[in-house]
Amino acid sequence: HTPWPGLIEAYRHRLPVCDTWEPGWEPVTLREGATPLLPAKSLSERTGCEVYLKVEGLNPTGSFKDRGMTMAVTEAKATGKKGVLCASTGNTSASAAAYASIAGIECAVLVPAGKIAMGKLAQAVMYGAKIIEVDGNFDDCLELARKTTATFDTIALVNSVNPVRIEGQKTAAFEIVDALGKAPDVHALPVGNAGNITAYWKGYSEYFADGVIAARPRMLGVQAAGAAPLVGGAPVKNPETIATAIRIGSPASWNQAVAAKDESNGQFRAATDEKLLEAYRLVARTEGVFVEPASAASVAGLLAATEDGWIEKGSTVVCTVTGNGLKDPDTALKGVPEIARVGIDPVAVAAAMGLTE
Ligand code: F0G
Repeated sequence: HTPWPGLIEAYRHRLPVCDTWEPGWEPVTLREGATPLLPAKSLSERTGCEVYLKVEGLNPTGSFKDRGMTMAVTEAKATGKKGVLCASTGNTSASAAAYASIAGIECAVLVPAGKIAMGKLAQAVMYGAKIIEVDGNFDDCLELARKTTATFDTIALVNSVNPVRIEGQKTAAFEIVDALGKAPDVHALPVGNAGNITAYWKGYSEYFADGVIAARPRMLGVQAAGAAPLVGGAPVKNPETIATAIRIGSPASWNQAVAAKDESNGQFRAATDEKLLEAYRLVARTEGVFVEPASAASVAGLLAATEDGWIEKGSTVVCTVTGNGLKDPDTALKGVPEIARVGIDPVAVAAAMGLTE
């Protein structure tokens, strides 16, 4: 029995590694990937479908970004870069910071001032990244990151516009197929900058081309209603949503996302913040999976699409839940029911539980 080696080793034959890299390069890995595909009993009962959650919050830094980052930082190191830079709504920055720390190269992150969840900021701080707040939104940060890395050769851009990020992230589709023995009928996921939907579609398409699967899933891309450019068909100038991870008005992988939707006979959908929060609470209370608000978009999309019949009963559906709920404790603690307070008194404890009989 050998321990899970991380994505690059596990899927090396399907990844574009080493073509132009320095001889003797090694993977920069925190043993990301191999996340659970959890059968979601309660969601299955509720929707009449066979629902699974791909729990990406169990990656080393708590989000799917680690899949792309092991590739991006490995490449940066193997091509002699001195530092990595990204724009981020939080998760990418946490991931870049962690991988840069073990690679021993500089990392700076450009984040929209005041608009990233506390846990993510804490991660970037602890992993030792230089945090740079920008007076602007994510789209402004990405433009600045692109300009900086275009000007300074020693700094690698590690956003998902870097093609190796997509390569790493496509492995989630491989894992799902490897676990199910087939592709799901529908794959639902949150969409922000649209790298992940691009990556999943690439993964499914490669398995399809190689005859590993007989059909590819319909892709259901879910955006927050206040930041839904792909649903509306035009960039959104001032995106706003409680799901800060997907507060993005001008997705970099726009064309690839549209291709994934069109080629898969899929759909883009918007979920209001209210629906996102409902799904966020539901998945924690009924499935025991605490995700961040943006991640609940996939579940909100599942609920809406089974209600209006876009997803037929009996379908096999995978919802990617992209990030860990611990990253955003502020949202979790908003609107909590009153917390009981008791003395050292067993009767009071049982009474607080409503179980005195
Ligand atoms: N879910 C979470 C938790 C995310 O952090 C992101 C993106 C997405 C979904 C959307 O994925 O951008 O590939 O469509 N977060 C990026 C970041 C933008 O900076 O961490 P996407």
